[in-house]
Amino acid sequence: MRKTLVVGNWKMHGSRPANAELLAGVLAARPFLADVAVCVPFVYLTETAATLAGSDIRWGAQDVSAHMQGAYTGEVSAPMLAEFGCRYVLVGHSERRAYHAESDELVAAKAQAALGKGVTPIVCVGETLAEREAGQTEAVVKRQLSAVIHTLAHCAAEMVVAYEPVWAIGTGRTASPEQAQAVHAVLRAQLQAATGRGDAMRILYGGSVKPDNAATLFAQPDIDGGLIGGAALKAADFVAICRAQAA
Ligand code: PGA
Repeated sequence: MRKTLVVGNWKMHGSRPANAELLAGVLAARPFLADVAVCVPFVYLTETAATLAGSDIRWGAQDVSAHMQGAYTGEVSAPMLAEFGCRYVLVGHSERRAYHAESDELVAAKAQAALGKGVTPIVCVGETLAEREAGQTEAVVKRQLSAVIHTLAHCAAEMVVAYEPVWAIGTGRTASPEQAQAVHAVLRAQLQAATGRGDAMRILYGGSVKPDNAATLFAQPDIDGGLIGGAALKAADFVAICRAQAA
């Protein structure tokens, strides 16, 4: 049985007072049946760790360098994330792929760097609207995932995968539960074929998940939780999504 995982992706939002209020609201709503985590901007990791330490809410980052250390101005390494207690790190978010030209190979190297330091990579995959309309959804997500599977090899079963159709991110346009489930099933079959443990791996859905659609999405057989952007910035909304897991 896969335990539901709900991860907040704060993106480049937040301030020290706003974060304190948000985290206090999430902490006050415990316990959750689901596993819950927040992926915050690097600069807020120290305070987030201090606030959440001792609770069962986990924290993580939104990116990681593929390098362990060195002359890479502006980058943050996996050992640094581990030092700050990060349980998770997002890799290959579509905003990084699109705005920072991250290739499948770079995403795979980042996932490997994270896993090597005990930080679970949440590997994001997803097609653009043009790719969906051209009937390429399956080929695109399989290609993106296959690069990571190839690089992680026998450790591939340790990652979490997040399917985020690019056209659904921040647009208010969610994939229908059936559309999302169809892609999740493809990804699970790919993970199962590659690792033999795909049935135990968690595949999250992301893209305009809100309190009113989370339960239907999470009820799909291959959707094991969500990666939540906009709705993770308000405690009441995020808490409602954390509680929306399939019974
Ligand atoms: P959204 O973002 O929930 O605001 O659509 C999801 C994500 O980009 O991870």
